[in-house]
Amino acid sequence: MNILEIQKMNVWFGGLHAVSDLNMRVAKGEIHSLIGPNGAGKTTVFNAIMNIVKKSGRVVFSGIDITNKKTHEIAALGIRRSFQNVHLFKYMTVLENLLVGYHTSYEIALNVKKLLYEERRAYRKAFDVADLLEIKNRLGVPALLLPYGVQKVVEIGRALMSDPKLLMMDEPAAGLTESETEWLHSIIKRINSELGITLLLIEHDMKLVMGISDTITVMDFGKKIAEGTPQQIKEDERVIKAYLGEVIS
Ligand SMILES: Nc1ncnc2c1ncn2[C@@H]1O[C@H](COP(=O)(O)OP(=O)(O)O)[C@@H](O)[C@H]1O
Ligand SMILES: [Mg+2]
Repeated sequence: MNILEIQKMNVWFGGLHAVSDLNMRVAKGEIHSLIGPNGAGKTTVFNAIMNIVKKSGRVVFSGIDITNKKTHEIAALGIRRSFQNVHLFKYMTVLENLLVGYHTSYEIALNVKKLLYEERRAYRKAFDVADLLEIKNRLGVPALLLPYGVQKVVEIGRALMSDPKLLMMDEPAAGLTESETEWLHSIIKRINSELGITLLLIEHDMKLVMGISDTITVMDFGKKIAEGTPQQIKEDERVIKAYLGEVIS
């Protein structure tokens, strides 16, 4: 079963055809990577899914047509993303940053009893997320005092606070050291296997992509040029020519 289906997606920026007739399916429960050279249109696909940029075509999530839904409605249905650059509140602690990700409704905000109950749940959730991500000992630390790699993991944690069904990560390994990337690898695995969250990952680190993905989609100049298992992608002539030749050698 597919959790996400993109049909004939096109995005134009003036005269630039950033995404061109893209068809793509993400199976429920898988780790799916989207790779390709800089400027290929990968981040634009995320933005188009979330309806942050104008597009044509159709996007279906969990059987619901989300093509024309507002960004917050799409998020409420269960899609969350983490960004290429860290977007944390610098002067807030890790715990506070996590709590920001826990959304309570207006209705709850007006009901004190419910609010207290929700507060307890939010804290419990934050501790569970911190436990899973191995950042429990950092909960009291202001974000700006953390190493960059830990900041990126906190951002992933914040995205997990609302129990998404699909988590989209934009270059989570960018700027990380080798050991931080190995840590990230194990975290992504655990998010997928222990929380059952489907992952869509834009990433340039080929060791991570090849080691972690069930499926890989390759884009170049806005178009899908290949799709398959890591083994199939590694051996694809077109992919090697457009992308892998330059990253691996
Ligand atoms: N909001 C925007 N306005 C105009 N051009 C954009 C915008 N976002 C991206 N682009 C352009 O679209 C192309 C694809 O960008 P992007 O999706 O960021 O690529 P990738 O994430 O694969 O590196 C690039 O040429 C980029 O400059
Ligand atoms: Mg990008």
